[in-house]
Amino acid sequence: MFRRSHTPSAGVVIYVDGKPVHAAAEESVAAAMLVAGFTSFRASAVSAAPRAPHCMIGNCFECLVEINGQPDRQACLTIVSDGMHVRRQAEEPGP
Ligand code: FES
Repeated sequence: MFRRSHTPSAGVVIYVDGKPVHAAAEESVAAAMLVAGFTSFRASAVSAAPRAPHCMIGNCFECLVEINGQPDRQACLTIVSDGMHVRRQAEEPGP
């Protein structure tokens, strides 16, 4: 569905739910996940409906994931780093 518009200058590997994902060094976690084919980033606590990035600029909070054990991180505003561990969230973010 999504693909990069350019060849990345350097690459890193992040792990999404334990699956290795190759990413460009300068891209966001959300971009890397979308290019890798992830269409759901979290589940709504109200309806359990899958949620995915919408704005990609930090406004909608639809892209919340756990990054290196820290929940509720905005994937669209977080730049990848080699060895980063990302987990898709099953519940609504806490207070
Ligand atoms: S996609 Fe909207 S805040 Fe991340």
